[in-house]
Amino acid sequence: MIFKDRVALITGGGRGIGRAIALKLAAKGADIVIADLTPDAAGQTAKEIELLGRRVLALKVDVGCADDTQKMVEDAVDAFGGLHILVNNAGITRDRLLLRMSEEEWDSVLTVNLKGAFNCTRAAVRHMSRERYGRIVNIASIVGLTGNPGQANYSASKAGLIGFTKTVAREFAARGITCNAVAPGFIDTAMTQAMPERARNALTSHIPMARLGTPEDVAEGVAFLASDAASYITGHVLSINGGMFM
Ligand SMILES: NC(=O)c1ccc[n+]([C@@H]2O[C@H](COP(=O)([O-])OP(=O)(O)OC[C@H]3O[C@@H](n4cnc5c(N)ncnc54)[C@H](O)[C@@H]3O)[C@@H](O)[C@H]2O)c1
Repeated sequence: MIFKDRVALITGGGRGIGRAIALKLAAKGADIVIADLTPDAAGQTAKEIELLGRRVLALKVDVGCADDTQKMVEDAVDAFGGLHILVNNAGITRDRLLLRMSEEEWDSVLTVNLKGAFNCTRAAVRHMSRERYGRIVNIASIVGLTGNPGQANYSASKAGLIGFTKTVAREFAARGITCNAVAPGFIDTAMTQAMPERARNALTSHIPMARLGTPEDVAEGVAFLASDAASYITGHVLSINGGMFM
C-alpha cells in the first residue's frame, strides 16, 4: 500500500492506459480522481476502483479547457483534502500525412495532448507547491522521440510534452515536486486497435519483444515514478516499448 493517504488524479482515466494507471494506483492504496471527457467511461472505471475499497471521484473534464482543469483540481482537493499525484494521460490522434493535414487536425491534437498537460499541471502545481510535495507523470510516446509518418501533429505534441516535462522538473524541484514522462511504444488499446491489421503486424515485427505492450506495462512504470522510491528522479523520460527504440 505504497500510496496510502495519497490522492492521484488521472486524466483520460476512463479507458485504456489511463484506466490501467488508475486501477494500479488504487490497488496500491491511492484515492483516485478520474477526469475524462467521456463520463460513462469515467463512471465505469470509478465503479471498479470502489470495488478495490478506495475513495473515487469521476469528473467530466475537457483538459483543453483551462476553466475545466482549474475546477477539476478544486473539486479534487475539496473532495479528498489534497492532491499528490497528477498523471497527464488524456491524448488523441488525428493521423494524416503532412500535406493533407488540416489546421483543425493539427490544433485539436496539440490542444488536448500538449495544452491539456499545461492546463492540468498549472492548476495542480499551485496546490502542490503549497504542500511542498507532488508527483507529476506525463504520458508521452515513442513517436515524440523518433517521429512517425502521418503523425506530425501527434509526434510534435509528444516531443513538446517531453520539453515541458523537463522545464516543470527544473522549476519545481526545490519544492518537492518531481515531473517525469513515460514514452510508451505501441500499446494494445482502442487507439492502436483502430489501425489496420497489416499495419499492426508490420509494427510488431519491429518490436524485439515481438508483442504490443499492455496498459499494465505502462501503469507499472507510472506507479514507480509516482512513488517515493523515485523521489530523486526528475525530468526523466522512461521508455516502455519492448526494445523498439533504445
Ligand atoms: N496506445 C498506444 O499505443 C500509446 C502509445 C504511446 C502513448 N500513448 C498515449 O497514452 C495515452 C492514453 O492512450 P490510450 O491508448 O489509452 O487512448 P484511449 O483513446 O484508449 O483513451 C484516451 C482517454 O482519454 C480521454 N480523452 C480524450 N480527449 C480528452 C479530453 N480533451 N479531456 C479529457 N479526456 C480526454 C478519452 O475519453 C479516453 O478515455 C495518450 O496520451 C496516448 O497518446 C498511447
